[in-house]
Amino acid sequence: MRHAVVMAGGSGTRLWPLSRAARPKQLLDVIRDDEDGAGGAGAHSLLAEAFARLEAVLPAERIWVCTAARYGAQVQAALPRLRPDRLVLEPVARDTANAVGLAAALVAEADPDAELAVVSADHVIRPVERFAAALTTAFDALAARPRALVTLGIRPTAPATGFGYVRRGAATGVPGVAEAAAFKEKPDRATAEGYLASGEYLWNSGMFVWRARTVLDALADHLPATAEGLDRVVAAPPGPQRDAVLAEVFPALPKTSVDYAVLEPAATEPGRVLVADLDVDWLDVGSWPALAQTLAAADGNAVGGLAVTLDSAGNIVFSDDPEHLVALVGVRDSVVVATADVTMVCPVSDAERVKQLLAAVEGRF
Ligand code: GDD
Ligand code: MG
Repeated sequence: MRHAVVMAGGSGTRLWPLSRAARPKQLLDVIRDDEDGAGGAGAHSLLAEAFARLEAVLPAERIWVCTAARYGAQVQAALPRLRPDRLVLEPVARDTANAVGLAAALVAEADPDAELAVVSADHVIRPVERFAAALTTAFDALAARPRALVTLGIRPTAPATGFGYVRRGAATGVPGVAEAAAFKEKPDRATAEGYLASGEYLWNSGMFVWRARTVLDALADHLPATAEGLDRVVAAPPGPQRDAVLAEVFPALPKTSVDYAVLEPAATEPGRVLVADLDVDWLDVGSWPALAQTLAAADGNAVGGLAVTLDSAGNIVFSDDPEHLVALVGVRDSVVVATADVTMVCPVSDAERVKQLLAAVEGRF
């Protein structure tokens, strides 16, 4: 049967000080309800949106969420329709290769022939109908090629260095699905510019479809320490014994993402990786300039919360307290974020460096 898992354990460091280690971006109510036609004056989280998006394709009982144990209670509270036994908790975050592996192992235990979509929790996608159609097409592609690793690909609009790139290869016979001729995670700027100019590459959306068993086999091939560790985990009976093995094994697994560990090497095997077109408005809400695209436009600035601007343009202004006013005069191209305990200001061009501040504040904020 078809299942899906939302990867929701990232820490969102480039959206500091809004995103905090204790409450990361995917759990923050940053998307206005009126944005997706839900109406009302409230807001919801990226995670709630990711879950609702999957419900367009699957029943809630086959939607899983994988996150770090420290976020478990917040995730369950944000997702009333998530079945408690579908919440997969990692003792510590070891990046997506291990998170995907753990989720796949538990899904395969529940349903040995499961086909599993893996999606991110930090995306804004419109319209949902086209997402649902692309995900269904990607699942359909597995019927003909059960051992395939399918990524959903987005037409790139800029030489972004924070994404993976997939080169389209031979047709597969399923409309909208091609073989991937190459996969390169987070290329440098010059390489990304070459990919964009070639017209042959799509961005990896960070969403995948495969059989749970297939991705476990791929981990056995390419990240054997993880595969062996996960085998030990699922060999233990569910409950306290398995939790104890997980707590012992998981922190020692090699910290790496599924893109580097599985997709890059697997794409060198002809026909192993496929890419399905995902033709949607898509935003990875990874940084302040990305989040700004979901904020209201006001006098040439992107504004979230209470703000007043005078002779100021190109700014991203955010206040997370409805009674705390941020006021700018004569300010250009800056990010200004006010929270109860932190005020952060930087040029928009330095927005990617925000995470460096976290080292400077040494976990105190
Ligand atoms: N459970 C769990 N555990 N989830 C995690 C972990 C972890 O240790 N680390 C990250 N995640 C979640 C994040 O919350 C997010 O939803 C998703 O996995 C992807 O992680 P990111 O850290 O946001 O990855 P990225 O944006 O740098 O890169 C990925 O996504 C890009 C598109 O958004 C890659 O797949 C790229 O190739 C891709 O282009
Ligand atoms: Mg991301």
